[in-house]
Amino acid sequence: MRILLHRADGATEPWIKDFGKYLPDAEVVVWRAGTTPPPCDYAVVWSPPEGMLADLGEVKATFLTGAGVDGLLRFGDKLPRHVPVIRLEDAGMAIQMAEYVTHAVLRYYRRFDEYEAQARAGQWAPLPQHNKEDFSIGLLGMGALGGRVLEALAPFGFPLRGWSRSAKEVAGVQCFHGADGLDTFLRGTRVLVCLLPLTADTNNIVDRSNMAKLPQGAYLVNVARGAHVAEPDLLTLIKSGHIAAATLDVFRNEPLPSQHPFWQEPRISITPHISAMTLRRESVQQIAEKILKIEAGEMVDGIVDRIRGY
Ligand code: NAP
Ligand code: GLV
Repeated sequence: MRILLHRADGATEPWIKDFGKYLPDAEVVVWRAGTTPPPCDYAVVWSPPEGMLADLGEVKATFLTGAGVDGLLRFGDKLPRHVPVIRLEDAGMAIQMAEYVTHAVLRYYRRFDEYEAQARAGQWAPLPQHNKEDFSIGLLGMGALGGRVLEALAPFGFPLRGWSRSAKEVAGVQCFHGADGLDTFLRGTRVLVCLLPLTADTNNIVDRSNMAKLPQGAYLVNVARGAHVAEPDLLTLIKSGHIAAATLDVFRNEPLPSQHPFWQEPRISITPHISAMTLRRESVQQIAEKILKIEAGEMVDGIVDRIRGY
């Protein structure tokens, strides 16, 4: 069996080594622009260059080394239709996301962001605690990652809410779904956490109109994709005080350009797209297990629905 591998960072050796552990009989071929690879059975990519698309038409399945699929689906009709695209499901990312979001929520709930500012100014001024019953946390997206974040938050006793495309029932979580459920979900959400895939339906979903539905003094945590948030709208609502603060891990343009106004806004906390990083060993193990299932004629999970966009 041959696997065609592309890594934008060029760091292919550790991936080849790990595939050797889980699929010892497989040969891993590194894709290089301007060369024609030998016939391959599977491709393993993240956000491949357009020049690789023709080679993706020759494999049995394309595996993504990430959870989000927008980096590949951006090619639209140029992407071979007959080849299934299979994304990572959790593979060690869900616990990282749970850590990140729990930290952001507790930081705002316990007002550590305000105490950090006080400390920088040499001030000692205890603040009243937020009321936990009013500190509802609403997850946009209750999938592999959102579901794990809700589990991690449950022991703290915050009112939990979730919004998804299809109807769900999750113990301890008030669930909403579809376009009809969005307004009610937003109106009762104090901390909005975005964990949606980026699709035509979710692009710009955190815009002025939807943020205005959140209660005064709401918080935003975006760990999905930058294009979910209308960035100028967020700045306007932060300056007006409607949004108290935001923690952003993802941006429309990454790396976030040095002149971007977010860098100058103290109520916006920025991290460089690290909330849930691809773990190589776990990812290779998951991909290898799925390859073996496909070879055995079995079904695998994580196949991307091109119509839905995730
Ligand atoms: P997932 O398992 O596919 O879950 C997606 C969730 O979003 C599902 O609950 C789905 O609803 C919901 N959803 C999708 N479209 C919707 C719509 N139009 N309306 C309402 N709900 C909708 O995805 P995941 O593995 O949790 O990953 C989520 C996203 O996180 C990825 O797509 C990626 O962009 C991002 N991510 C970011 C990082 C980072 O480091 N910042 C790392 C990994 C992933 P249903 O349950 O009804 O289908
Ligand atoms: C990272 O952003 C991913 O989608 O896996």
